[in-house]
Amino acid sequence: MINKNLIFLLSVLVLLLNQIHVNAVDYVPRNIDIERYPKNILVGSYAGGRSHLKPMLDVAAILIERGHNVILLTSGNYEPSSEYPGLKQITLGPKLSARKSKIDLQKDFDYRQMSRIRELTTAGYGKSYEKFNNVAKEYNIDLFFCDAMANEACMDVANNLNKPVVAWSSFLQFVDHKPYKSDPLFGCNISFENESFFERFRCTLIQPLQIAYAFASVERQLNDARNQMNINLASRKGLKFNLALIDNFFGFELPQPLPPNVQEIGPVLSDEYPPLTPELTNFIDKHERVLYIAFGTRVYVRSELNDKLTQVFVEAINNKIIDGVIWALSETSKDDFSPTLSLTDGTQVQTSPILNNEHPHIHVTKFAPQFAVLNHTNTKLFFSHGGAGSTHESLYTGTPMLVLPFGGDQMGNAQRLETAGIALSLNKHSLDVNDILNKIDFLLKDEHIKKNSKRMKYLARINSNRKYKAADLIEYVLYSSGLDEYLDDDFLKEWIPAESRMGFIKANNLDVYGFLLGIILTLIGITFKLISNSLSNRKKSKKE
Ligand SMILES: *[C@@H]1O[C@H](CO)[C@@H](O)[C@H](O)[C@H]1NC(C)=O
Ligand SMILES: *[C@@H]1O[C@H](CO)[C@@H](O)[C@H](O)[C@H]1NC(C)=O
Ligand SMILES: *[C@@H]1O[C@H](CO)[C@@H](O)[C@H](O)[C@H]1NC(C)=O
Repeated sequence: MINKNLIFLLSVLVLLLNQIHVNAVDYVPRNIDIERYPKNILVGSYAGGRSHLKPMLDVAAILIERGHNVILLTSGNYEPSSEYPGLKQITLGPKLSARKSKIDLQKDFDYRQMSRIRELTTAGYGKSYEKFNNVAKEYNIDLFFCDAMANEACMDVANNLNKPVVAWSSFLQFVDHKPYKSDPLFGCNISFENESFFERFRCTLIQPLQIAYAFASVERQLNDARNQMNINLASRKGLKFNLALIDNFFGFELPQPLPPNVQEIGPVLSDEYPPLTPELTNFIDKHERVLYIAFGTRVYVRSELNDKLTQVFVEAINNKIIDGVIWALSETSKDDFSPTLSLTDGTQVQTSPILNNEHPHIHVTKFAPQFAVLNHTNTKLFFSHGGAGSTHESLYTGTPMLVLPFGGDQMGNAQRLETAGIALSLNKHSLDVNDILNKIDFLLKDEHIKKNSKRMKYLARINSNRKYKAADLIEYVLYSSGLDEYLDDDFLKEWIPAESRMGFIKANNLDVYGFLLGIILTLIGITFKLISNSLSNRKKSKKE
Protein backbone atom coordinates (compact mmCIF):
# COMPACT_ATOMS: atom_id res chain seq x y z
CA MET A 1 0.00 0.00 0.00
CA ILE A 2 2.65 2.49 1.12
CA ASN A 3 4.88 1.46 -1.74
CA LYS A 4 2.15 2.07 -4.30
CA ASN A 5 1.52 5.53 -2.95
CA LEU A 6 5.22 6.26 -3.02
CA ILE A 7 5.56 5.18 -6.61
CA PHE A 8 2.59 7.32 -7.53
CA LEU A 9 4.08 10.35 -5.78
CA LEU A 10 7.43 9.80 -7.43
CA SER A 11 5.93 9.61 -10.89
CA VAL A 12 4.01 12.83 -10.27
CA LEU A 13 7.27 14.42 -9.15
CA VAL A 14 9.09 13.24 -12.27
CA LEU A 15 6.31 14.65 -14.43
CA LEU A 16 6.49 17.99 -12.64
CA LEU A 17 10.25 18.12 -12.98
CA ASN A 18 9.95 17.44 -16.70
CA GLN A 19 7.45 20.25 -16.94
CA ILE A 20 9.84 22.67 -15.29
CA HIS A 21 12.65 21.54 -17.52
CA VAL A 22 10.53 21.98 -20.67
CA ASN A 23 9.50 25.49 -19.60
CA ALA A 24 13.07 26.55 -18.89
CA VAL A 25 14.08 25.82 -22.46
CA ASP A 26 11.58 28.42 -23.64
CA TYR A 27 13.16 31.31 -21.67
CA VAL A 28 14.80 34.15 -23.56
CA PRO A 29 17.02 36.80 -22.04
CA ARG A 30 15.63 40.07 -20.78
CA ASN A 31 17.05 42.98 -22.69
CA ILE A 32 19.26 44.81 -20.19
CA ASP A 33 20.70 47.42 -22.53
CA ILE A 34 20.19 51.08 -21.77
CA GLU A 35 20.22 53.45 -24.70
CA ARG A 36 23.09 55.88 -24.16
CA TYR A 37 24.28 58.99 -25.92
CA PRO A 38 27.33 60.89 -24.75
CA LYS A 39 26.68 64.00 -22.66
CA ASN A 40 28.88 66.74 -21.23
CA ILE A 41 29.16 66.72 -17.46
CA LEU A 42 30.87 69.32 -15.31
CA VAL A 43 32.26 68.30 -11.91
CA GLY A 44 32.57 71.45 -9.79
CA SER A 45 34.18 71.88 -6.39
CA TYR A 46 35.25 75.17 -4.90
CA ALA A 47 36.91 73.64 -1.85
CA GLY A 48 38.78 71.01 -3.89
CA GLY A 49 41.27 68.77 -2.14
CA ARG A 50 41.49 65.02 -2.09
CA SER A 51 38.75 64.28 0.43
CA HIS A 52 36.16 66.24 -1.56
CA LEU A 53 37.23 65.30 -5.05
CA LYS A 54 38.29 61.68 -4.88
CA PRO A 55 34.85 60.12 -4.31
CA MET A 56 33.22 62.47 -6.83
CA LEU A 57 35.85 61.51 -9.42
CA ASP A 58 35.36 57.81 -8.69
CA VAL A 59 31.75 58.27 -9.79
CA ALA A 60 32.85 60.47 -12.71
CA ALA A 61 35.22 57.67 -13.82
CA ILE A 62 32.22 55.37 -14.28
CA LEU A 63 30.48 58.04 -16.36
CA ILE A 64 33.62 58.46 -18.51
CA GLU A 65 33.73 54.69 -19.03
CA ARG A 66 30.13 54.90 -20.22
CA GLY A 67 31.14 57.36 -22.92
CA HIS A 68 30.36 60.74 -21.35
CA ASN A 69 32.70 63.73 -21.41
CA VAL A 70 33.62 64.90 -17.93
CA ILE A 71 35.28 68.21 -17.09
CA LEU A 72 36.64 68.96 -13.64
CA LEU A 73 36.53 72.56 -12.49
CA THR A 74 38.23 73.18 -9.15
CA SER A 75 40.54 75.57 -7.31
CA GLY A 76 44.20 74.94 -7.99
CA ASN A 77 45.37 71.88 -9.85
CA TYR A 78 44.22 68.49 -8.62
CA GLU A 79 47.21 66.33 -9.48
CA PRO A 80 45.75 62.87 -8.88
CA SER A 81 43.28 63.67 -11.67
CA SER A 82 45.85 62.07 -13.98
CA GLU A 83 44.71 58.77 -12.43
CA TYR A 84 41.43 59.28 -14.25
CA PRO A 85 42.09 58.89 -17.97
CA GLY A 86 39.78 60.96 -20.12
CA LEU A 87 39.11 63.53 -17.41
CA LYS A 88 39.67 67.10 -18.55
CA GLN A 89 40.71 69.56 -15.87
CA ILE A 90 40.24 73.33 -15.84
CA THR A 91 41.32 75.45 -12.92
CA LEU A 92 38.92 77.70 -11.08
CA GLY A 93 41.74 79.91 -9.84
CA PRO A 94 44.59 79.57 -7.38
CA LYS A 95 44.49 76.77 -4.85
CA LEU A 96 42.73 77.69 -1.63
CA SER A 97 45.43 78.36 0.94
CA ALA A 98 45.46 75.10 2.90
CA ARG A 99 45.31 77.01 6.16
CA LYS A 100 48.79 76.29 7.39
CA SER A 101 47.99 77.30 10.94
CA LYS A 102 48.74 74.74 13.62
CA ILE A 103 45.72 73.12 15.20
CA ASP A 104 44.87 75.06 18.32
CA LEU A 105 43.73 72.51 20.85
CA GLN A 106 41.99 75.12 22.99
CA LYS A 107 39.76 76.46 20.24
CA ASP A 108 36.56 74.81 19.04
CA PHE A 109 36.09 74.55 15.32
CA ASP A 110 32.34 74.84 14.92
CA TYR A 111 29.79 76.87 12.97
CA ARG A 112 31.36 80.15 14.13
CA GLN A 113 34.68 79.29 12.46
CA MET A 114 32.74 77.94 9.49
CA SER A 115 30.96 81.25 9.01
CA ARG A 116 34.31 83.06 9.08
CA ILE A 117 35.75 80.74 6.44
CA ARG A 118 32.56 81.15 4.41
CA GLU A 119 33.08 84.89 4.40
CA LEU A 120 36.47 84.36 2.78
CA THR A 121 35.16 81.91 0.19
CA THR A 122 32.13 84.07 -0.60
CA ALA A 123 34.50 86.85 -1.63
CA GLY A 124 35.47 84.64 -4.59
CA TYR A 125 31.87 84.12 -5.70
CA GLY A 126 31.85 86.54 -8.63
CA LYS A 127 35.01 85.13 -10.19
CA SER A 128 33.84 81.54 -9.74
CA TYR A 129 30.49 82.37 -11.27
CA GLU A 130 32.12 83.81 -14.38
CA LYS A 131 34.38 80.80 -14.71
CA PHE A 132 31.59 78.25 -14.31
CA ASN A 133 29.44 80.22 -16.73
CA ASN A 134 32.17 80.43 -19.40
CA VAL A 135 33.12 76.76 -19.12
CA ALA A 136 29.44 75.75 -19.23
CA LYS A 137 28.94 77.64 -22.46
CA GLU A 138 32.23 76.74 -24.09
CA TYR A 139 31.83 73.02 -23.46
CA ASN A 140 28.07 72.90 -23.85
CA ILE A 141 27.57 71.37 -20.41
CA ASP A 142 24.43 69.25 -20.02
CA LEU A 143 24.64 68.55 -16.29
CA PHE A 144 26.34 70.10 -13.27
CA PHE A 145 27.71 67.74 -10.63
CA CYS A 146 28.41 70.14 -7.74
CA ASP A 147 30.16 69.59 -4.43
CA ALA A 148 27.62 71.04 -1.98
CA MET A 149 30.17 72.79 0.23
CA ALA A 150 30.76 76.51 -0.33
CA ASN A 151 29.95 76.03 -3.99
CA GLU A 152 26.94 78.26 -4.70
CA ALA A 153 28.43 79.48 -7.99
CA CYS A 154 28.25 75.97 -9.47
CA MET A 155 24.59 75.55 -8.57
CA ASP A 156 23.60 79.11 -9.46
CA VAL A 157 25.10 78.88 -12.94
CA ALA A 158 23.26 75.61 -13.51
CA ASN A 159 19.98 77.08 -12.31
CA ASN A 160 20.47 80.19 -14.39
CA LEU A 161 21.18 78.18 -17.53
CA ASN A 162 18.28 75.89 -16.69
CA LYS A 163 20.46 72.79 -16.56
CA PRO A 164 20.09 69.93 -14.10
CA VAL A 165 22.18 69.96 -10.88
CA VAL A 166 23.31 66.93 -8.94
CA ALA A 167 24.62 67.96 -5.52
CA TRP A 168 27.23 65.93 -3.65
CA SER A 169 27.88 65.76 0.08
CA SER A 170 28.86 63.31 2.77
CA PHE A 171 27.06 65.43 5.34
CA LEU A 172 23.38 64.54 5.31
CA GLN A 173 22.42 67.38 7.68
CA PHE A 174 23.23 69.97 5.01
CA VAL A 175 20.88 68.36 2.53
CA ASP A 176 18.00 66.83 4.45
CA HIS A 177 17.56 68.21 7.94
CA LYS A 178 15.50 66.26 10.48
CA PRO A 179 14.15 67.89 13.67
CA TYR A 180 15.49 65.07 15.87
CA LYS A 181 19.05 65.25 14.51
CA SER A 182 21.82 67.81 14.74
CA ASP A 183 25.59 67.83 14.90
CA PRO A 184 28.31 68.97 17.33
CA LEU A 185 29.29 71.34 14.52
CA PHE A 186 26.09 73.20 15.46
CA GLY A 187 26.67 72.77 19.18
CA CYS A 188 24.28 69.85 19.69
CA ASN A 189 24.26 66.06 19.80
CA ILE A 190 23.83 64.00 16.62
CA SER A 191 20.56 62.61 17.99
CA PHE A 192 17.97 64.10 20.36
CA GLU A 193 16.66 60.64 21.21
CA ASN A 194 18.03 60.65 24.75
CA GLU A 195 18.33 64.39 25.30
CA SER A 196 16.45 66.25 28.02
CA PHE A 197 13.57 68.60 27.23
CA PHE A 198 15.78 71.63 27.92
CA GLU A 199 18.52 70.39 25.62
CA ARG A 200 15.98 69.83 22.84
CA PHE A 201 14.54 73.29 23.53
CA ARG A 202 18.02 74.81 23.22
CA CYS A 203 18.88 72.87 20.08
CA THR A 204 15.53 73.43 18.36
CA LEU A 205 14.96 77.10 19.12
CA ILE A 206 18.05 78.83 20.44
CA GLN A 207 20.93 77.27 18.47
CA PRO A 208 19.29 77.85 15.04
CA LEU A 209 18.91 81.55 15.91
CA GLN A 210 22.56 81.78 16.90
CA ILE A 211 23.61 79.99 13.72
CA ALA A 212 21.43 82.23 11.57
CA TYR A 213 22.99 85.22 13.33
CA ALA A 214 26.54 83.91 12.71
CA PHE A 215 25.81 83.36 9.02
CA ALA A 216 23.72 86.51 8.47
CA SER A 217 26.56 88.60 7.08
CA VAL A 218 27.70 85.78 4.77
CA GLU A 219 24.16 85.45 3.44
CA ARG A 220 23.98 89.19 2.84
CA GLN A 221 27.37 89.16 1.13
CA LEU A 222 26.27 86.27 -1.08
CA ASN A 223 23.02 87.94 -2.06
CA ASP A 224 24.82 91.18 -2.88
CA ALA A 225 27.23 89.24 -5.08
CA ARG A 226 24.30 87.51 -6.75
CA ASN A 227 22.55 90.81 -7.39
CA GLN A 228 25.74 92.18 -8.90
CA MET A 229 25.85 89.23 -11.30
CA ASN A 230 22.18 89.85 -12.17
CA ILE A 231 21.16 86.39 -11.11
CA ASN A 232 17.48 85.83 -11.40
CA LEU A 233 16.31 85.35 -7.81
CA ALA A 234 13.11 83.62 -8.85
CA SER A 235 15.01 80.74 -10.38
CA ARG A 236 16.64 79.99 -7.03
CA LYS A 237 13.34 79.41 -5.23
CA GLY A 238 12.71 75.91 -4.01
CA LEU A 239 15.27 73.18 -4.48
CA LYS A 240 18.71 74.30 -5.53
CA PHE A 241 19.50 70.78 -6.72
CA ASN A 242 17.51 68.26 -8.67
CA LEU A 243 19.16 65.29 -7.03
CA ALA A 244 21.48 65.03 -4.02
CA LEU A 245 23.89 62.13 -3.65
CA ILE A 246 25.04 61.42 -0.12
CA ASP A 247 28.42 59.73 0.20
CA ASN A 248 27.50 57.95 3.39
CA PHE A 249 25.45 54.99 4.56
CA PHE A 250 22.91 54.19 7.25
CA GLY A 251 24.64 52.17 9.90
CA PHE A 252 27.35 54.79 10.14
CA GLU A 253 24.94 57.69 9.60
CA LEU A 254 21.94 57.52 11.96
CA PRO A 255 18.86 56.19 10.16
CA GLN A 256 16.18 58.55 8.86
CA PRO A 257 13.68 58.54 5.98
CA LEU A 258 14.82 60.23 2.76
CA PRO A 259 12.85 61.75 -0.11
CA PRO A 260 13.54 60.06 -3.48
CA ASN A 261 15.59 63.01 -4.75
CA VAL A 262 18.08 62.50 -1.90
CA GLN A 263 19.92 59.20 -2.19
CA GLU A 264 22.62 57.70 -0.05
CA ILE A 265 25.17 56.00 -2.28
CA GLY A 266 28.29 55.72 -0.09
CA PRO A 267 30.83 54.74 0.92
CA VAL A 268 32.45 55.53 -2.43
CA LEU A 269 35.89 53.93 -2.63
CA SER A 270 38.33 53.54 -5.49
CA ASP A 271 38.81 50.19 -7.20
CA GLU A 272 42.56 50.35 -6.69
CA TYR A 273 44.86 51.73 -4.04
CA PRO A 274 48.64 52.10 -3.83
CA PRO A 275 50.26 49.04 -2.19
CA LEU A 276 52.46 48.97 0.91
CA THR A 277 56.05 50.05 0.36
CA PRO A 278 58.63 47.27 0.91
CA GLU A 279 59.71 49.11 4.07
CA LEU A 280 56.20 49.12 5.48
CA THR A 281 55.56 45.51 4.47
CA ASN A 282 58.70 44.54 6.33
CA PHE A 283 57.59 46.42 9.47
CA ILE A 284 53.95 45.37 9.49
CA ASP A 285 54.69 41.68 8.81
CA LYS A 286 56.94 41.59 11.87
CA HIS A 287 54.31 43.01 14.23
CA GLU A 288 51.00 41.45 15.16
CA ARG A 289 49.12 44.25 16.92
CA VAL A 290 49.85 47.43 14.99
CA LEU A 291 48.30 50.80 15.73
CA TYR A 292 48.16 53.10 12.71
CA ILE A 293 47.94 56.84 13.37
CA ALA A 294 47.23 59.56 10.80
CA PHE A 295 45.41 62.86 11.16
CA GLY A 296 44.93 63.73 7.51
CA THR A 297 46.92 66.12 5.39
CA ARG A 298 45.33 69.33 6.67
CA VAL A 299 46.04 68.83 10.35
CA TYR A 300 49.17 70.34 11.84
CA VAL A 301 49.79 69.25 15.37
CA ARG A 302 51.52 71.24 18.07
CA SER A 303 54.30 69.70 20.15
CA GLU A 304 52.07 69.56 23.23
CA LEU A 305 49.96 66.88 21.56
CA ASN A 306 52.86 65.18 19.76
CA ASP A 307 54.67 64.70 23.06
CA LYS A 308 51.60 63.16 24.67
CA LEU A 309 51.14 60.82 21.71
CA THR A 310 54.80 59.78 21.75
CA GLN A 311 54.51 59.00 25.45
CA VAL A 312 51.32 56.99 24.86
CA PHE A 313 52.94 54.91 22.11
CA VAL A 314 56.12 54.17 24.04
CA GLU A 315 54.12 53.16 27.13
CA ALA A 316 51.60 51.13 25.10
CA ILE A 317 54.49 49.16 23.59
CA ASN A 318 56.28 48.80 26.95
CA ASN A 319 53.04 47.54 28.55
CA LYS A 320 52.51 45.15 25.62
CA ILE A 321 49.09 46.63 24.78
CA ILE A 322 50.26 46.92 21.18
CA ASP A 323 53.50 45.76 19.57
CA GLY A 324 53.91 48.29 16.76
CA VAL A 325 52.99 51.81 15.65
CA ILE A 326 52.89 53.24 12.14
CA TRP A 327 52.80 57.02 12.39
CA ALA A 328 52.00 59.07 9.30
CA LEU A 329 53.22 62.52 10.27
CA SER A 330 52.14 64.26 7.07
CA GLU A 331 52.69 68.01 7.53
CA THR A 332 53.89 67.75 11.12
CA SER A 333 57.63 68.30 11.17
CA LYS A 334 60.22 66.90 13.53
CA ASP A 335 60.59 70.32 15.13
CA ASP A 336 57.10 69.89 16.53
CA PHE A 337 58.39 67.46 19.17
CA SER A 338 60.21 68.14 22.43
CA PRO A 339 63.74 66.64 22.50
CA THR A 340 63.03 64.60 25.61
CA LEU A 341 59.96 63.57 27.54
CA SER A 342 59.39 61.62 30.71
CA LEU A 343 57.20 58.55 31.07
CA THR A 344 54.74 57.89 33.91
CA ASP A 345 57.40 55.91 35.80
CA GLY A 346 59.86 58.81 35.49
CA THR A 347 62.06 57.33 32.74
CA GLN A 348 63.40 59.88 30.26
CA VAL A 349 62.92 59.20 26.55
CA GLN A 350 64.78 60.89 23.70
CA THR A 351 62.46 61.66 20.78
CA SER A 352 65.00 62.07 17.99
CA PRO A 353 65.87 58.34 17.72
CA ILE A 354 62.13 57.61 17.45
CA LEU A 355 61.68 60.21 14.71
CA ASN A 356 64.71 58.80 12.87
CA ASN A 357 63.11 55.35 12.89
CA GLU A 358 65.68 53.86 15.26
CA HIS A 359 62.97 52.56 17.60
CA PRO A 360 62.32 48.93 16.57
CA HIS A 361 58.54 49.14 17.06
CA ILE A 362 57.63 52.67 15.97
CA HIS A 363 57.74 53.42 12.26
CA VAL A 364 57.50 57.12 11.39
CA THR A 365 56.76 58.13 7.81
CA LYS A 366 55.67 61.28 6.04
CA PHE A 367 53.00 59.56 3.98
CA ALA A 368 51.56 56.08 4.26
CA PRO A 369 49.44 54.23 1.70
CA GLN A 370 46.55 54.43 4.15
CA PHE A 371 44.14 51.95 2.63
CA ALA A 372 46.83 49.29 2.26
CA VAL A 373 47.91 49.79 5.90
CA LEU A 374 44.34 49.47 7.18
CA ASN A 375 43.77 46.53 4.84
CA HIS A 376 46.58 44.50 6.46
CA THR A 377 45.38 41.96 9.05
CA ASN A 378 48.05 43.05 11.54
CA THR A 379 46.67 46.59 11.72
CA LYS A 380 44.33 46.33 14.70
CA LEU A 381 43.51 49.94 15.44
CA PHE A 382 43.26 53.24 13.56
CA PHE A 383 44.00 56.39 15.59
CA SER A 384 42.35 59.04 13.44
CA HIS A 385 40.90 62.55 13.32
CA GLY A 386 37.64 61.07 12.02
CA GLY A 387 37.48 62.66 8.56
CA ALA A 388 34.85 61.12 6.27
CA GLY A 389 37.33 59.53 3.84
CA SER A 390 39.45 57.90 6.55
CA THR A 391 36.35 56.73 8.37
CA HIS A 392 34.97 55.04 5.26
CA GLU A 393 38.27 53.23 4.67
CA SER A 394 38.38 52.08 8.27
CA LEU A 395 34.79 50.83 8.19
CA TYR A 396 35.46 49.04 4.90
CA THR A 397 38.50 47.23 6.31
CA GLY A 398 36.79 46.52 9.64
CA THR A 399 39.42 48.38 11.67
CA PRO A 400 38.24 49.73 15.06
CA MET A 401 39.02 53.41 15.64
CA LEU A 402 40.23 55.74 18.33
CA VAL A 403 39.03 59.15 17.20
CA LEU A 404 40.47 62.52 18.16
CA PRO A 405 38.22 65.01 16.35
CA PHE A 406 39.58 68.51 15.70
CA GLY A 407 36.60 70.19 14.03
CA GLY A 408 34.16 70.33 11.14
CA ASP A 409 32.29 67.07 10.59
CA GLN A 410 34.83 65.13 12.69
CA MET A 411 33.08 65.54 16.06
CA GLY A 412 29.85 64.21 14.60
CA ASN A 413 31.69 61.33 12.92
CA ALA A 414 33.26 60.43 16.27
CA GLN A 415 29.82 60.30 17.90
CA ARG A 416 28.42 58.21 15.04
CA LEU A 417 31.30 55.73 15.26
CA GLU A 418 30.81 55.40 19.01
CA THR A 419 27.08 54.87 18.51
CA ALA A 420 27.91 52.17 15.94
CA GLY A 421 30.00 50.50 18.65
CA ILE A 422 33.30 50.36 16.77
CA ALA A 423 35.17 53.31 18.25
CA LEU A 424 35.95 55.42 21.27
CA SER A 425 36.69 59.10 21.07
CA LEU A 426 38.96 61.55 22.83
CA ASN A 427 38.29 65.12 23.80
CA LYS A 428 41.04 67.44 22.57
CA HIS A 429 40.49 69.68 25.60
CA SER A 430 41.23 66.93 28.14
CA LEU A 431 43.83 64.53 26.84
CA ASP A 432 45.17 62.18 29.45
CA VAL A 433 47.87 59.57 28.79
CA ASN A 434 46.32 56.93 31.06
CA ASP A 435 42.86 57.45 29.60
CA ILE A 436 44.24 56.98 26.07
CA LEU A 437 46.12 53.83 27.10
CA ASN A 438 42.96 52.37 28.69
CA LYS A 439 40.95 53.12 25.59
CA ILE A 440 43.51 51.50 23.27
CA ASP A 441 43.52 48.42 25.51
CA PHE A 442 39.71 48.27 25.53
CA LEU A 443 39.39 48.68 21.75
CA LEU A 444 41.83 45.82 21.14
CA LYS A 445 40.20 43.39 23.58
CA ASP A 446 36.47 44.04 23.67
CA GLU A 447 34.33 41.40 21.97
CA HIS A 448 31.51 43.82 21.10
CA ILE A 449 33.95 46.06 19.27
CA LYS A 450 35.17 43.06 17.25
CA LYS A 451 31.63 41.93 16.44
CA ASN A 452 30.47 45.40 15.44
CA SER A 453 33.54 46.00 13.28
CA LYS A 454 32.78 42.81 11.37
CA ARG A 455 29.17 43.86 10.90
CA MET A 456 30.13 47.32 9.64
CA LYS A 457 32.75 45.84 7.35
CA TYR A 458 30.06 43.76 5.68
CA LEU A 459 27.71 46.73 5.38
CA ALA A 460 30.42 49.05 4.01
CA ARG A 461 31.42 46.41 1.46
CA ILE A 462 27.95 45.80 0.06
CA ASN A 463 27.26 49.55 0.03
CA SER A 464 30.54 50.38 -1.71
CA ASN A 465 28.97 49.05 -4.92
CA ARG A 466 26.50 51.87 -4.94
CA LYS A 467 28.84 54.21 -6.79
CA TYR A 468 27.45 52.50 -9.89
CA LYS A 469 23.98 53.41 -8.69
CA ALA A 470 25.19 57.01 -8.30
CA ALA A 471 26.30 56.97 -11.94
CA ASP A 472 22.97 55.41 -12.97
CA LEU A 473 21.04 58.13 -11.15
CA ILE A 474 23.11 60.89 -12.77
CA GLU A 475 22.39 59.34 -16.17
CA TYR A 476 18.69 59.20 -15.35
CA VAL A 477 18.73 62.92 -14.54
CA LEU A 478 20.54 63.54 -17.85
CA TYR A 479 18.19 61.52 -19.99
CA SER A 480 14.97 62.51 -18.26
CA SER A 481 15.75 66.15 -18.92
CA GLY A 482 15.17 65.53 -22.61
CA LEU A 483 17.45 66.24 -25.52
CA ASP A 484 16.78 69.86 -26.38
CA GLU A 485 14.10 71.42 -24.23
CA TYR A 486 15.57 71.52 -20.76
CA LEU A 487 13.97 71.61 -17.33
CA ASP A 488 10.33 72.54 -17.44
CA ASP A 489 8.32 72.82 -14.23
CA ASP A 490 7.65 69.12 -14.19
CA PHE A 491 11.31 68.09 -14.34
CA LEU A 492 11.96 65.21 -11.94
CA LYS A 493 8.51 65.72 -10.45
CA GLU A 494 8.34 61.95 -10.07
CA TRP A 495 10.95 62.23 -7.29
CA ILE A 496 9.84 65.33 -5.44
CA PRO A 497 7.44 64.60 -2.57
CA ALA A 498 4.21 66.62 -2.67
CA GLU A 499 5.13 67.98 0.78
CA SER A 500 7.36 70.67 -0.69
CA ARG A 501 4.50 71.98 -2.83
CA MET A 502 1.73 71.62 -0.23
CA GLY A 503 3.34 73.68 2.52
CA PHE A 504 3.77 72.67 6.14
CA ILE A 505 0.14 73.10 7.27
CA LYS A 506 -1.53 71.20 4.44
CA ALA A 507 1.16 68.50 4.23
CA ASN A 508 0.58 67.64 7.90
CA ASN A 509 -3.22 68.14 7.74
CA LEU A 510 -2.85 70.72 10.50
CA ASP A 511 -5.85 72.64 9.13
CA VAL A 512 -8.00 69.51 9.52
CA TYR A 513 -6.86 68.97 13.11
CA GLY A 514 -7.28 72.68 13.80
CA PHE A 515 -10.87 72.47 12.56
CA LEU A 516 -11.50 69.42 14.78
CA LEU A 517 -10.05 71.27 17.76
CA GLY A 518 -12.38 74.18 16.99
CA ILE A 519 -15.42 71.87 16.98
CA ILE A 520 -14.37 70.28 20.27
CA LEU A 521 -13.78 73.66 21.93
CA THR A 522 -17.15 74.94 20.67
CA LEU A 523 -18.92 71.85 21.99
CA ILE A 524 -17.20 72.22 25.36
CA GLY A 525 -18.18 75.91 25.42
CA ILE A 526 -21.81 75.11 24.63
CA THR A 527 -21.92 72.40 27.30
CA PHE A 528 -20.49 74.79 29.93
CA LYS A 529 -22.98 77.45 28.95
CA LEU A 530 -25.88 74.98 29.27
CA ILE A 531 -24.67 73.70 32.66
CA SER A 532 -24.13 77.17 34.10
CA ASN A 533 -27.50 78.31 32.73
CA SER A 534 -29.33 75.40 34.33
CA LEU A 535 -27.44 75.96 37.61
CA SER A 536 -28.39 79.65 37.78
CA ASN A 537 -31.97 78.71 36.85
CA ARG A 538 -32.06 76.27 39.78
CA LYS A 539 -30.68 78.94 42.16
CA LYS A 540 -33.31 81.37 40.96
CA SER A 541 -36.12 78.84 41.40
CA LYS A 542 -34.79 77.98 44.93
CA LYS A 543 -34.87 81.67 45.94
CA GLU A 544 -38.36 81.96 44.64
C1 LIG B 1 25.40 62.82 23.08
O1 LIG B 1 24.60 61.82 23.68
C2 LIG B 1 25.32 60.75 24.22
C3 LIG B 1 24.36 59.70 24.69
O2 LIG B 1 23.28 60.27 25.38
C4 LIG B 1 26.23 61.26 25.34
O3 LIG B 1 26.98 60.20 25.86
C5 LIG B 1 27.14 62.32 24.77
O4 LIG B 1 27.93 62.89 25.77
C6 LIG B 1 26.36 63.41 24.08
N1 LIG B 1 27.28 64.29 23.41
C7 LIG B 1 27.21 65.62 23.51
C8 LIG B 1 28.20 66.39 22.70
O5 LIG B 1 26.39 66.18 24.19
C1 LIG C 1 18.97 56.16 23.59
O1 LIG C 1 18.75 55.24 24.64
C2 LIG C 1 18.17 54.00 24.26
C3 LIG C 1 17.90 53.19 25.51
O2 LIG C 1 19.01 53.16 26.35
C4 LIG C 1 19.13 53.29 23.30
O3 LIG C 1 18.56 52.06 22.88
C5 LIG C 1 19.37 54.18 22.11
O4 LIG C 1 20.30 53.59 21.23
C6 LIG C 1 19.90 55.55 22.54
N1 LIG C 1 19.99 56.39 21.37
C7 LIG C 1 21.11 57.01 21.00
C8 LIG C 1 21.04 57.82 19.75
O5 LIG C 1 22.14 56.93 21.63
C1 LIG D 1 43.74 44.10 0.64
O1 LIG D 1 43.76 42.78 1.15
C2 LIG D 1 43.43 41.78 0.21
C3 LIG D 1 43.37 40.44 0.93
O2 LIG D 1 44.03 40.44 2.14
C4 LIG D 1 44.42 41.80 -0.93
O3 LIG D 1 44.07 40.83 -1.89
C5 LIG D 1 44.43 43.18 -1.57
O4 LIG D 1 45.40 43.26 -2.59
C6 LIG D 1 44.72 44.25 -0.54
N1 LIG D 1 44.61 45.57 -1.15
C7 LIG D 1 45.43 46.58 -0.87
C8 LIG D 1 45.24 47.85 -1.60
O5 LIG D 1 46.31 46.50 -0.05
